[in-house]
This record gives sequence, structure tokens and C-alpha cells, in this order.
Amino acid sequence: MRNRKPATYVAADQCPQAGRERMIMPQPISLVGAQARNPERSLLRHMRDDGAVFMMGQNPDLPVMPDRPTLLDFFHYRFSDIAFMHLLQCAKLALQAGQPDKVVLACLLHDVANGALIRVDHGYWGAQMIAPYVSEEISWAVKYHQALRYFADEAAGFSYPEAYVQFFGPDFTPPEYLCDAHEEARRHRWYMTSRLITIYDIYSFQDDWSVDPAEFTDVIGRHFRQPEAGLGFDNSPVAHMWRSMIWPHNFL
Ligand SMILES: [Fe+2]
Ligand SMILES: [Fe+2]
Repeated sequence: MRNRKPATYVAADQCPQAGRERMIMPQPISLVGAQARNPERSLLRHMRDDGAVFMMGQNPDLPVMPDRPTLLDFFHYRFSDIAFMHLLQCAKLALQAGQPDKVVLACLLHDVANGALIRVDHGYWGAQMIAPYVSEEISWAVKYHQALRYFADEAAGFSYPEAYVQFFGPDFTPPEYLCDAHEEARRHRWYMTSRLITIYDIYSFQDDWSVDPAEFTDVIGRHFRQPEAGLGFDNSPVAHMWRSMIWPHNFL
């Protein structure tokens, strides 16, 4: 089960824009090709006709993040239950197998983009999100796990995941850019770091296995350069990605 720390919420009347109906506009990427369900026009009409506004700042339905959020704060307060469980289980398997810190941390972070930001090309997004804070090797491994998951390496102990046959159908073949990325990764000196992520990746989620995030406090402390100002507020090239998860419903 999810091991949430006590979260703080704010009452709706304490939020910015209090007293007005606050509307959440879905992200453009989730509306592409979904014209029939696209609420843009009706929400804009509601704004004009009824004085509703678009959400900016703290959404009262979400826990308030600490002023200087750490990596684990995002796990606790923002990541979906499935991502939370999945990342912790993957890292725990690597830990139990006696893998070095770099592999454990790579496993803990490999699907970080799926936590609360974006699924599409998640390995690439995730690698960028963590690049300022981890070694180049860890970020590289997260990027390339996206491609390696589709290609068996029986010698390393990795078969094509059964779950992918269900997810994508038996006839799915990866796009060319991932085939190229796989070839490139195979020749790279960090190949096994990325390959190990795919080996400890849990392809069928285990609901009944809870892992305490605190188990990874030391590994994170040793290898994740937590910014003093907090993730999202350190003016790094990726700070906006973390801020987008703090206030995911900001209209602009
Ligand atoms: Fe992944
Ligand atoms: Fe994964």
C-alpha cells in the first residue's frame, strides 16, 4: 500500500482566486485528435458568460508541496499510485540483487516522467528531468531504457515482456528511432546500466507489495544532487518540469 506522509491541504477559500469557480483545462497534448471531447470552447464560453476563471496556483484537491520540494516529496505528493509503487518495487529488486547505487537509483528514477508529467517518450523526458542532479551515466541509462525494453537480450536475462503483448498487441514493432537507439545503446559502454533497468522493471504490477520510500533516502543522498532551493525553484534548465508537477493545473 502507499505509504503517504501526512499531507497538508488548503481550504478552497484560502486559495488564490477564492470565491470564483476555477476550471481546469486539459493539456493540449491530451486533446490532440479528440475534437469531440475537446472542452476548450465550452470552458471559454463558461468564463465569458458566468465569470468562471481558469485554475492558477494551488489546487485545493492536491496536497500542498513543501516550499523546497525534494525528490521524495514528489513521490509522496504528486506521483500516481501506480508510478509510486512501480518505481519503488523496481529499485527494491535492484537493491535485493546487490546492484550498485547507480543501478538502484536509475531504477528508482527510470519512469519518473510517468509519475505526474507525461507518458509519451517517457525515457527521454525522464532523462532530461534528472540530468542536472545525477551522473551522466544514470541519466543516459534512463533515456535508453525506453528503447531497450522492446529488444530481448537473452544472454543478459531479458526477454520481451509478456505484458507488452497485452499492452501493444502481438504485431507491434517499435518505431525506427527506437530501433536506432537500441543499436546505439548496444555499442555503448553504459549499456548494462540501462539494460539492468529493464531487467528489474516490473512489467506486471504487484499491488500487494509495499516498499517504503525511506529505504532509498541514503542512495538518494549519495547520488542525487538535491538543489538547496528545491526541485522546481533552482533555476536549472529543467526547473519548469518539476514546477509543472507542483501546479499541474495552471492554465498558462
Ligand atoms: Fe519505462
Ligand atoms: Fe518501468
